[in-house]
Amino acid sequence: MTAILRDVVESDLDAFFEHQREPAANEMAIFPARDRETFDAHWRKILADDSTTQKTIVHEGRVAGNVLCWSQDGQRLVGYWVGSEFWGKGLATRALREFVEEEPARPLHAWVATSNVGSIRVLEKCGFVQVGSRTTDVEELLFELS
Ligand SMILES: CC(C)(COP(=O)(O)OP(=O)(O)OC[C@H]1O[C@@H](n2cnc3c(N)ncnc32)[C@H](O)[C@@H]1OP(=O)(O)O)[C@@H](O)C(=O)NCCC(=O)NCCS
Repeated sequence: MTAILRDVVESDLDAFFEHQREPAANEMAIFPARDRETFDAHWRKILADDSTTQKTIVHEGRVAGNVLCWSQDGQRLVGYWVGSEFWGKGLATRALREFVEEEPARPLHAWVATSNVGSIRVLEKCGFVQVGSRTTDVEELLFELS
């Protein structure tokens, strides 16, 4: 299958900014939108951090979303976000599959809201299995790719 991931370039950030503030996406991920200043600071940090890996998801030449991996509390965590106009095309699944093939660290982990059935399905299709859960403000499941 053709690759759909490439390195993130600064001009992708405008699209990422719009994607991360779509109300349907915020509701799905139970994650609030960042304002532009907070978003820019967040991405500046990601792009400056050598321990974080970030890729842009491309669909028909357009920026469709991103997938990334970072270290937190001794775990290597993955996350992804797809713009709503690109949902339902199998892009998140293809992107995560391609990403984990390139990312050597194992285990990989992902936290997902219990209600986020689409994201849970993406993780399962990529071989992740549920290994834990927690309740903070949100009920979340921990998935692992070993
Ligand atoms: C969740 C998300 C990544 C899915 O992206 P996508 O590209 O539409 O996902 P895919 O097309 O690869 O779908 C994968 C599977 O999930 C299912 N699925 C996707 N969204 C779904 C939804 N809202 N409800 C139920 N199932 C859903 C698909 O039907 C497919 O399953 P199938 O192959 O058995 O039919 C995307 O909706 C998104 O970015 N949401 C906002 C941010 C977010 O939740 N990020 C993840 C945080 S953990």
